[in-house]
Amino acid sequence: MKKILVTGGAGYIGSHTVVELQEAGYAPIIIDNFSNSEESALEGIAAILGKEIPCYRVDCTDAVAMRQVFEQEQDIQGVIHFAAYKAVGESVAEPLKYYHNNVGSLVALLQVMSEFNVYNLVFSSSCTVYGIPDKLPVTEQTPVQKANSPYGNTKKICEEILSDLAASGAEMNSIALRYFNPIGAHPSARIGELPLGVPSNLVPFITQTAIGIREQVTVFGSDYDTPDGTCIRDYVHVVDLAKAHVVAIDRLLEGKVDKLEFYNVGTGNGNTVLEAIQAFELATGVKLNYKIGPRRAGDVPKIYADVTKATEVLGFKTTSTLEEAMASAWKWQVSLKESTTEA
Ligand code: WQD
Repeated sequence: MKKILVTGGAGYIGSHTVVELQEAGYAPIIIDNFSNSEESALEGIAAILGKEIPCYRVDCTDAVAMRQVFEQEQDIQGVIHFAAYKAVGESVAEPLKYYHNNVGSLVALLQVMSEFNVYNLVFSSSCTVYGIPDKLPVTEQTPVQKANSPYGNTKKICEEILSDLAASGAEMNSIALRYFNPIGAHPSARIGELPLGVPSNLVPFITQTAIGIREQVTVFGSDYDTPDGTCIRDYVHVVDLAKAHVVAIDRLLEGKVDKLEFYNVGTGNGNTVLEAIQAFELATGVKLNYKIGPRRAGDVPKIYADVTKATEVLGFKTTSTLEEAMASAWKWQVSLKESTTEA
């Protein structure tokens, strides 16, 4: 089985990707410093797969420690790099923490990969690189704009690093996946999103409100130029997103990537915040307590993906509906409450 190193593999998208990699016949190996993930994710992965996945507690900015992993795990065939901080608001307050970690870890990883002749990389990028797009849906040719947060800027800089590396003639072959809004959880409810503290993202805030951890959801603004006045996003089930990483690794290991490729990974559909709330209520039968509040600074009014390229080149399309994703998010939240009450 071909070994694939998954940095941030105990995290939200990382853990779901580890499961899909193993089920697709790969041998995933996790690197995680557990700064934004929990060891319980490893137990959840093991429960789903019926086997433990090797995990190294390593910080990806630490090239020395990463070298030890590459020495220990001979013949790594490819790397999927998730390890990064991703809280937009925190990045505004602590930009250096974000530049050091998100940019520093990619540079260190690329250096170590080259030393060990590992030349296949899937990079976790984000639709945030598009800023506020002029035209919708966004394609991979939509101009990348000035980021509206240090977090978004780190994603933009990392993409530029990969472009410069490709232009230098270095052997590296990379695929950058530009995620839209990942939501939901594995159908087993053994792994899912574990936001630290008060969630900034919509769906975990919805599920925590529905289960009684939070008082009420505030919808950030209802005066946008959209059908119901609330922002539009492309909500993609995290399991679909995980499967996109397997398809990207397949393409790299088949030698089909010439240096660097970008793909939007979304559903291709845009939904407003109120539609997302309605989908949650329909999927779960739970009435949500929410109110309309002021806009949130920095929010992009509308963005959703044109997924033609991923469909035609990667042969990848999402399969889950918004309601299915919401139902899986709720099942996960309920399982968390049960495990907490049992503890
Ligand atoms: C979605 C919509 C909010 C919370 C961020 C990052 C992005 C990616 C996903 C990593 C917006 C509204 C939210 C709430 C609300 N992360 N909302 N009430 O901001 O689209 O994207 O997370 O890659 O890079 O920027 O996601 O879930 O925070 O917001 O009304 O309590 O829900 O205004 O319209 P966002 P989000």
